[in-house]
Order: sequence, then structure tokens, then C-alpha cells
Amino acid sequence: MTNNYTYVITRKEKLADKIYLMDIKAPRVASHCLPGQFIILKIDEKGERIPLTICDYDREEGTVTIVFQALGSSTKRMAKHQVGEAFRDFTGPLGKPSELMGMSKEELSKKKVLFVAGGVGAAPVYPQVKWMKENGYDVDCIIGARSKELIILEEPIRQYAKNLYITTDDGTYGMKGNVNDCIKELIQNQGLHYDIVVAIGPMIMMKYVCILTKELNIKTIVSMNPIMVDGTGMCGACRLTIGNEVKFACVDGPEFDGHMVDFDEAINRLSMYKTQEGKKLLRDKE
Ligand code: FES
Repeated sequence: MTNNYTYVITRKEKLADKIYLMDIKAPRVASHCLPGQFIILKIDEKGERIPLTICDYDREEGTVTIVFQALGSSTKRMAKHQVGEAFRDFTGPLGKPSELMGMSKEELSKKKVLFVAGGVGAAPVYPQVKWMKENGYDVDCIIGARSKELIILEEPIRQYAKNLYITTDDGTYGMKGNVNDCIKELIQNQGLHYDIVVAIGPMIMMKYVCILTKELNIKTIVSMNPIMVDGTGMCGACRLTIGNEVKFACVDGPEFDGHMVDFDEAINRLSMYKTQEGKKLLRDKE
């Protein structure tokens, strides 16, 4: 697979079954991206646009780290690429940086933040945890997955989180249970206090974290991952209902107040686009 494309892969690692990390040489994106933002990658001329959150960046090296799950045909093709090969497009940074990065020092120093990462959600959580530590704020983090082999980025996150808790549904590693069991354990049994929860993972996980944190009265930020096509607010594919307003994840997000998100609608739209009809609709938007 050789080509003349611009965006060269400088590192590739397999983090877990079907989950890969790649560093991509993209100096312009690396020069000003921030945690919370994403990029849209195209493998070649005919490739679909693949939106991926930024997992890390090295401004000096001019590289951006992405993590993806090889589930669909495009991401499976991506996974076949090796170091030295390149992708055609790597557009970004798109979306808004994390809300935490926009808070004043004074405001942030008063907040105790808990990050909750589900599965591949550890990838967008990692740069936020790192940014917080590098800017002088201690944060706690929960990483949850179905089982031990699906826990990713544990060591990188451990470097920057004050306390890291691991939970697996099947109990093969860390606490047995889901992330909500762990949140309850920390808050209700251990008496810890948090002002903000940042939850990133599958929509269904974020939905249930938000139900719990609403009961516990803790502000919760989620990062939405709907289908995206153009990434510029024009096609409408990533439409969400937030409170009573229509928002586009690609330009208004991807982070939103989790207690305002209509998760059921978002989950329905996601499954609709998986049907043949939905796929055609998406092709028409391109
Ligand atoms: Fe957001 Fe098209 S991807 S409007």
C-alpha cells in the first residue's frame, strides 16, 4: 500500500482486540488542537469520512494520536495500514475544545473533577486528564470495560490521574461491575465529593451515568459521538436535541451538558444510520 498522500503514520500499536492507536504526522493540526476536539480522516479519494477524537498531540513532532476500533469496513481498512504509509485527508481540529479548558484558573481550582471512560472512551479522556495534571489540577478517573482485555490506556492515564479506578463487567480486572457501580462506591460508600463528572464512552453508558449524576446533583459533561459526514455543520447528520434546542455535534460540540441531552433520540438516530436505508441517506449527504 504505497501512495503519495500527506498524512504519514509514524507509530502504530494494537491496544486491544480490534483497537488500534496511530500517530499521524499532521503538523498544522498538531500545532493548535486541544483536548475535546476531533479530526475527520479519509483513507483515499473514495474513502468515507471517519471522525475520530484526538487522543494526544505532540506540537514539536507535529503528530496527532488517534485511537480507533476496527469495526466497520473503513476502520478495518485503516487498521491494515502500517507505519510509513499515509492517509489522504486529516481535517481538523474540528469541534470545540473541552469545556474544562475554557474555565478560568480560579473556577477550575475550586472544582473536583471525576473522569469516567467507557471502553474506547479512554482515548478522548486521556488528553483531558493529562491537560488537567499539567495545569496543576488533580483529578480522579474511572476506566470501565466489559473485561480486562478491553481496558485501554491504563498506564498513560495512571501517570496523570491522582486516583485511577478500574471496573470490569465480568470482574476479570479491578472492581466487578459497571462504571455507575464504581461512581456509587466512591460517592455513597467512600464519601468522596465531585463537582463535575466528565463521562465519555458508548452512548448507552453516558445515558446511565447522566441518570445517576442527575440524582446525585453533579454537573456532567459528555462527549457525543453521532454519525458525522461533513463535520462543518452543513449536512445535519450529527443533529442532536439538547434541552429544547437542535445542536450539531460537529460545530456546537462534541461536548454537551449531559443532563440536557436527549440520549434516546441520539441512540435511535445512530441505529437508523446502520440500516441500508440509513447508509444510503448518508451517501446522499456527501
Ligand atoms: Fe455535523 Fe454534518 S457532521 S452537520
